[in-house]
Amino acid sequence: MGVIVRRLEEDDVVENFDCKDEALNNYLKKHAWSNQQKISIGVTYVVVDELACKTVLGYFTLATSAIPRDSFPKKHVRGLPAYHLPLILLARLAVDHRFEGKGLGRLLLREAFRISVSVSEQVGCRCIITDAYRHKVAWYAKYGFIPLEGGGEDKPTQRMFLDIRTLKAALKA
Ligand SMILES: CC(C)(COP(=O)(O)OP(=O)(O)OC[C@H]1O[C@@H](n2cnc3c(N)ncnc32)[C@H](O)[C@@H]1OP(=O)(O)O)[C@@H](O)C(=O)NCCC(=O)NCCS
Repeated sequence: MGVIVRRLEEDDVVENFDCKDEALNNYLKKHAWSNQQKISIGVTYVVVDELACKTVLGYFTLATSAIPRDSFPKKHVRGLPAYHLPLILLARLAVDHRFEGKGLGRLLLREAFRISVSVSEQVGCRCIITDAYRHKVAWYAKYGFIPLEGGGEDKPTQRMFLDIRTLKAALKA
């Protein structure tokens, strides 16, 4: 199946999207468009079949954020000033359960990486972070995300990061 990853459009068909996670379904159906177009707090990218190019099969949302330097392992922030570090937040990522396990998650993540590296050439941005469901931590770790220690052990998610320099090196290799 040939697929395309592109920005969310107003007339995209999202009503039947089901990743088996109510919060992620709801975000796509109720908030993604207005957050992107009206209030500018997150941009959503979707994957579609090139032959049925309005039906959303998966999506991710990016925003910017910042977190304290001391949240990171020392070796990743040695020599950096004691400011909050600017970063890209991978705020949402989901694939319709009928299309899971076909590489669409990997494809979406790869596009998020490409965009993040491109943004980092123009706007200060040290890493990508995401709050991963605990049962998805191993999935993100496969792509180089590293868990951030400290706090939040009682939460259903684990904060993870990926250094933008690691990504740049990987893209050049
Ligand atoms: C996480 C998610 C986006 C992955 O999408 P996907 O299209 O199924 O992923 P891919 O097909 O690219 O990757 C599947 C691979 O990951 C592996 N995998 C799946 N779950 C895994 C897990 N929990 N830990 C490690 N590997 C896992 C599969 O075995 C497969 O490996 P392979 O490529 O070697 O065969 C999808 O499962 C999803 O939308 N889940 C529901 C919503 C969700 O949990 N989103 C993440 C929020 S943190």
